Amino acid sequence: MIDSTKPIDDATPLDDISGLKLPKDKVYTLKEIYAAEANNIAHATLKYLSAPPSKKTAPFDYAWMQQLHEEMFGDVWEWAGKFRQVELSIGIKSYLVPSALKELTEDLAYWKAHKTFDIYETAARLHHRAVQIHPFQNGNGRWSRMLANIYLRQHGSMPVKWQEDLLAKENPKRDEYIQALKEADHGDYQMLIAMHRHTY
Ligand SMILES: Nc1ncnc2c1ncn2[C@@H]1O[C@H](COP(=O)(O)OP(=O)(O)OP(=O)(O)O)[C@@H](O)[C@H]1O
Ligand SMILES: [Mg+2]
Repeated sequence: MIDSTKPIDDATPLDDISGLKLPKDKVYTLKEIYAAEANNIAHATLKYLSAPPSKKTAPFDYAWMQQLHEEMFGDVWEWAGKFRQVELSIGIKSYLVPSALKELTEDLAYWKAHKTFDIYETAARLHHRAVQIHPFQNGNGRWSRMLANIYLRQHGSMPVKWQEDLLAKENPKRDEYIQALKEADHGDYQMLIAMHRHTY
């Protein structure tokens, strides 16, 4: 049960609390759920970002991308690491998710092998494609930013400090972040690249 009438954001409908793994003996506020998620995510941050992760730890293949979402949200949600079966306002059709994610891992491997982009542009494109696909029921933004940060860390750059409360609609930084994604939707990656390059 949940005692707030305010959804966290557009992509997080209030009735999506089925699959909550927290003890059932109390009512949780959205704030408490978000705190539980943040605690879960902190473990993944420690594992992948405290030192540059090896190719074995972070292989950027299809199975690992799913595993990463499970590692970030698996303490809190049953659907962590599982592809969504429902259509959302953001993201491609759910039946296309597996093939699109597979294609992204192949494109990423190609970009790396052929040095198509520098690491910042690679991270920005990875972030944008991952969140465009929107493989999971929720947590896609946090998962895609984590993916890009792990990529940066593995390739010699420090991760981007996305504000923790980026979810809050009233945060002006969120508008800038969404604007950068929208520009990337139209093929202009400069703003998003600048964010990954720590120069925005
Ligand atoms: N209009 C939009 N166009 C493109 N992408 C969007 C838009 N609105 C939201 N997004 C992306 O989808 C994410 C929200 O999806 P979801 O709720 O699954 O992720 P989250 O991790 O729960 O939230 P957040 O990313 O806000 O922390 C946003 O962070 C952003 O990355
Ligand atoms: Mg959400």
